[in-house]
Amino acid sequence: MDFPVFTCFVFCLFYICSASPPNFVLFFADDLGFGDLGCYGHPSSLTPNLDRLAAGGLRFTDFYCTSPVCSPSRASLLTGRYQTRSGIFPGVFYPGSIGGLPLNETTIAEVLKPLGYATAAVGKWHLGYGANGTFLPTKQGFDQYLGIPYSHDQGPCHNLTCFPPDVKCFGWCDIGAVTVPLVHNDSIKQQPVNFLDLERAYRDFATNFIITSAKKKQPFFLYYPSHHTHYPLYAGTGAAGRSLRGPFGDSLFEFDSTIGNLMATLEGMGMINNTLVFFTSDNGPELMRMSRGGNSGLLKCGKGTTYEGGMREPAIAFWPGVIKPGVTHEMASTLDILPTIASLAGAKLPPVVLDGFDMTDVLFQNGKSKREVMMFYPTDPTEKLGLFALRLGKYKAHFYTRGATHSATTPDPDCPGIAVLKAHDPPLIFDLEADPSERYPLPLEGRPDIQAVVAQIEAVKVQFEATMVFGESQISKGVNPDLEPCCTPRCSPKPTCCHC
Ligand SMILES: *[C@@H]1O[C@H](CO)[C@@H](O)[C@H](O)[C@H]1NC(C)=O
Ligand SMILES: *[C@@H]1O[C@H](CO)[C@@H](O)[C@H](O)[C@H]1NC(C)=O
Ligand SMILES: *[C@@H]1O[C@H](CO)[C@@H](O)[C@H](O)[C@H]1NC(C)=O
Ligand SMILES: *[C@@H]1O[C@H](CO)[C@@H](O)[C@H](O)[C@H]1NC(C)=O
Ligand SMILES: *[C@@H]1O[C@H](CO)[C@@H](O)[C@H](O)[C@H]1NC(C)=O
Repeated sequence: MDFPVFTCFVFCLFYICSASPPNFVLFFADDLGFGDLGCYGHPSSLTPNLDRLAAGGLRFTDFYCTSPVCSPSRASLLTGRYQTRSGIFPGVFYPGSIGGLPLNETTIAEVLKPLGYATAAVGKWHLGYGANGTFLPTKQGFDQYLGIPYSHDQGPCHNLTCFPPDVKCFGWCDIGAVTVPLVHNDSIKQQPVNFLDLERAYRDFATNFIITSAKKKQPFFLYYPSHHTHYPLYAGTGAAGRSLRGPFGDSLFEFDSTIGNLMATLEGMGMINNTLVFFTSDNGPELMRMSRGGNSGLLKCGKGTTYEGGMREPAIAFWPGVIKPGVTHEMASTLDILPTIASLAGAKLPPVVLDGFDMTDVLFQNGKSKREVMMFYPTDPTEKLGLFALRLGKYKAHFYTRGATHSATTPDPDCPGIAVLKAHDPPLIFDLEADPSERYPLPLEGRPDIQAVVAQIEAVKVQFEATMVFGESQISKGVNPDLEPCCTPRCSPKPTCCHC
């Protein structure tokens, strides 16, 4: 393939003009909290490359994912739609899940393909595997894929090596399933995966993709959803023992190092000034892992909850010469990435209901966000209960609250799973600017101004829910152990025979 069409256009963004449309690199961390990066205040994390991106780019303070768990959050990132529309609930996909992200959903890769972009995904997919890999990235607009197609704890891990020379993975993973495979495009390359070598494999794959695309003068989209810093933590020789923060810090540092390497590749190929690099994470930290889990900083609770700690994430946008270094307090979301990329590439938006907004004004002009509202769905959304919380401007109202096992072990009694579902009528309301930790619900009595805010939030909620059509649940389709990826498909006894 070649792309003569681009030679007739000049793409201009403010004073920067280029002969080709911009490239996009999207880094997505896993279970990384608001407080985990050096540039977000963590005292012992080692994240020099992300800190550099933050110093030279735009750092968000009010950036949200759409779900406090993995699969639904990824579905929203790639489609620009709340997960309720695509049916990615309740919870997450399993190795033998029958469903997946419906193939008729349009991903960022599919938005860019008609414009001639090269597309690649590397790392954790977690939007379904399915019979013969029906739901893999190569079926959703990505030319190439290398990775574990789901969480790397979704297979037995306790005899696997997570740190050199032979430190076994800490704790227990899902023992009934096949060991986690490394998939290239549609075929299994290795099973179980070698954690010590995984980051190097990803780094080589991503580097090659950038170099090959650059040499072909083909614009590209690289989606890099890392397994770092999800449980069980792992790191190879370059990162193990390097941070002050122990296994979590080393895992984070390994991802940070790859980001540094890929930035150097972009620079070396002369692409750095024509590439938007974006970094964020899928959901809040898994606090139940204690010092082996992430940290939500001053935010309340973490993974699995609709408190801020579950869904507010670090986010950095970097594009030298185009994005001015700084910090923005504008509200934005993973939902906004698809419309923003489409706008920058000059691509058509998919003809579906989108929940995201073009955030180019925020990125390039220090402007206002078009996003005024953020919806908070629980891990298991239902039409009956609807939204658990809604943020409008600086106010967030909780209609339901509930803790989560993932968020156990902190002193806050609202976070763990034993904090059962509680309805709030009127809703609990917080001013997130004065009280980002959601500690002090605002009194309604004698406060007509706050009562008016609640009324306004309730009106927005009613209007939103009236138009929200839930897609068929893909996760409720259940699991079939025969669908689990196995490198020797006809072997027996499963799952232990799936070993190559
Ligand atoms: C995809 O197909 C399903 C089943 O036919 C349909 O319900 C859904 O609305 C479609 N989704 C999109 C985004 O077109
Ligand atoms: C996968 O494909 C093979 C070959 O086409 C077929 O025999 C098999 O039934 C398929 N497996 C599933 C689970 O659909
Ligand atoms: C698979 O991978 C290779 C090399 O990474 C690539 O060239 C090829 O086009 C990919 N896609 C498919 C669908 O095989
Ligand atoms: C781990 O390895 C030991 C020794 O080979 C074996 O007995 C045990 O069953 C293995 N455990 C799991 C969960 O694979
Ligand atoms: C990128 O732009 C900066 C100025 O913003 C310039 O100093 C640098 O040389 C450019 N790099 C490349 C590879 O074009």
